[in-house]
Amino acid sequence: VLVNGASGGVGTFAVQLARAFGAEVTGVCGPRNVDMVRSIGAHQVIDYTERDFTRSGQRYDVLIDIAGSRPGWACRRVLTGKGALVAVGGEPGRWVQPGGHVVSLLAAGPFVSQRVSSVNVVTCEETKRNLVTLTGLIEDGKVTPVIDRSFPFARIPEAVTYQEAGHAAGKVVITVGG
Ligand SMILES: NC(=O)c1ccc[n+]([C@@H]2O[C@H](COP(=O)([O-])OP(=O)(O)OC[C@H]3O[C@@H](n4cnc5c(N)ncnc54)[C@H](OP(=O)(O)O)[C@@H]3O)[C@@H](O)[C@H]2O)c1
Repeated sequence: VLVNGASGGVGTFAVQLARAFGAEVTGVCGPRNVDMVRSIGAHQVIDYTERDFTRSGQRYDVLIDIAGSRPGWACRRVLTGKGALVAVGGEPGRWVQPGGHVVSLLAAGPFVSQRVSSVNVVTCEETKRNLVTLTGLIEDGKVTPVIDRSFPFARIPEAVTYQEAGHAAGKVVITVGG
C-alpha cells in the first residue's frame, strides 16, 4: 500500500491502519516527517522533495492518494493492473469544489483497468462496524492518533491557519477549559 500524504491528519491513520491489516506500507511525506512516518509503521518512506513516487518504477496494489500532488495518469502508473486507487484529497478544482483532483480521478475510473474509488462520507453505511473495528485497534495499541499541536478554544483561527498550511504532523487539536 502506498500512502501519498502519509504524515498528515488523514495519512497518519491510513499508514497505521494499512499496517494493522498486514500490508507492506510505503509513505510519501516531506523531509521533516520522514522519521515520524517510519515510527508509526511505514516500511519505506519517500521524501517528496527528493523523489517522485510516480517515477520509482515500483508497483503497488493500493494507492491512497491524500495529498493529490500528482496527476491521475501518473498515479495510475504506480498501480498493478488490478490495483485500487482511493482518491481522498488534493487541491480544489477551478470548477468543482471541493476536490477537483478527486473528481477528475473518479471520472477516469470507468476507462482504466484499475479500480478507482473515493471515501463515502455521505451515507456512511458502515460507520458502526468501522468504529467497532477502530476501537479494537486503538485498544490494542495498533492505532494511536499523532498530535502535532494543541490550541486553546480562543485561538481556533490560528489553529485553522496552521492546519491549512498543509504540513501539520498528524492532527491539530483544540482544547476546551482546564
Ligand atoms: N475525502 C475525505 O473523506 C477527506 C477527509 C478528510 C480530509 N480530506 C482531504 O484530504 C486532504 C488531506 O487532509 P489532511 O487533513 O490529512 O491534511 P494535512 O494534515 O494538511 O496533510 C497533508 C499531507 O500532504 C502532504 N503534502 C503536502 N504537500 C505535498 C506534496 N507536494 N507532495 C506530496 N505530499 C504533500 C503533507 O506532507 P508534509 O507535511 O510532510 O509536507 C501531509 O502528509 C485534504 O485535501 C482534505 O480536504 C478528505
